[in-house]
Amino acid sequence: MSARQLMKVFVTRRIPQEGMKLLQKASMCDVLVWDSDEPVPRAELLEKVEGAHGLLCLLSDRIDAEVLDAAGPNLKVISTMSVGFDHLAIEEIKKRGIRVGYTPDVLTDATAELTVALLLATARRLPEGIQEVKSGGWSSWKPLWLCGYGLSGSTVGVIGLGRIGLAIARRLKPFGVKRLLYSGRQPKPEAREVDGEHVPLDTLLRESDFVVVSCSLTPDTQELCNKAFFSKMKNTAVFINTSRGAVVNQEDLLEALSSGQIAAAGLDVTTPEPLPTDHPLLRLNNCVVLPHIGSATFSTRGVMAQLSAHNLLAGLTGDPMPSELKL
Ligand code: NDP
Ligand code: DGY
Repeated sequence: MSARQLMKVFVTRRIPQEGMKLLQKASMCDVLVWDSDEPVPRAELLEKVEGAHGLLCLLSDRIDAEVLDAAGPNLKVISTMSVGFDHLAIEEIKKRGIRVGYTPDVLTDATAELTVALLLATARRLPEGIQEVKSGGWSSWKPLWLCGYGLSGSTVGVIGLGRIGLAIARRLKPFGVKRLLYSGRQPKPEAREVDGEHVPLDTLLRESDFVVVSCSLTPDTQELCNKAFFSKMKNTAVFINTSRGAVVNQEDLLEALSSGQIAAAGLDVTTPEPLPTDHPLLRLNNCVVLPHIGSATFSTRGVMAQLSAHNLLAGLTGDPMPSELKL
């Protein structure tokens, strides 16, 4: 195949070798990579995507009409190295007949594990404890010091019992969780495995000791967790979000945490990302913030890269993708 017939692929970031190798050995592709750990600046994205047949992107790249226009009519496939696709302008993409690949399932276990770690760290105040040890605040064993909340005998409410929500529930149940509630558009047969009770959101909020958000970000879930939401939670309840920052109204969360409306929050996702280091949430002892590391294990990221590459190549050749998003 001559260079003129090669299909142009733009990869918006340095990705794990498992994925890069697949792209590099694909003889039909001419691969251009933004070879950095930091996001491609918008202007570079618009320039580099021009004429591309395939685009491999990340959740930090906003792929909207402007990018699609910049790419032009060659673009056949967008493969995102993420399960979330709220950064893609799906209607525009669909209108132009472009296929989309994503990475469900392969990151479910890693993200569920991280959610459990964040929940325990938040409820049992691990960052505060570590800080006290380092700063000399640990004077003695004290009966009332650094007490938190335990899972044993508790009620957990999961908002969005999808792949990750169910994997979180499976992991939490063996801690002695008494009731597992979930909310969502309809009851799910797979919830039986965790004795999950499908309840209205208000019931979940009133009765849960731990509220875990694992739904996707959609127009319906945007700022779902707002003042009214937090006002229905117990004062002793712990709020955990590993879905997307925009599911939460952060001003309202800040108020709920500062006023004692809820006990604590653990967030793997925020608005914006990164959260500015002077953000008021970071000054609160009862808020634990992680830098969006739900899927960050070496093996998971390797498999995500591999799946993204396979999706992209299948999109270029017109073959079935291992994980194609139904548009
Ligand atoms: P799924 O599609 O399997 O699950 C999403 C769930 O959200 C579905 O059960 C869906 O319910 C539910 N949902 C949608 N709308 C609502 C609503 N209005 N109220 C309650 N539930 C709702 O996706 P995954 O479990 O694989 O991933 C979920 C999300 O987690 C991703 O979209 C992504 O944003 C985030 N994520 C974050 C990671 C991190 O690093 N922190 C890592 C991976 C994912 P229904 O079945 O009724 O549509
Ligand atoms: C996703 O895949 O949507 C996560 O947020 C990152 O793995």
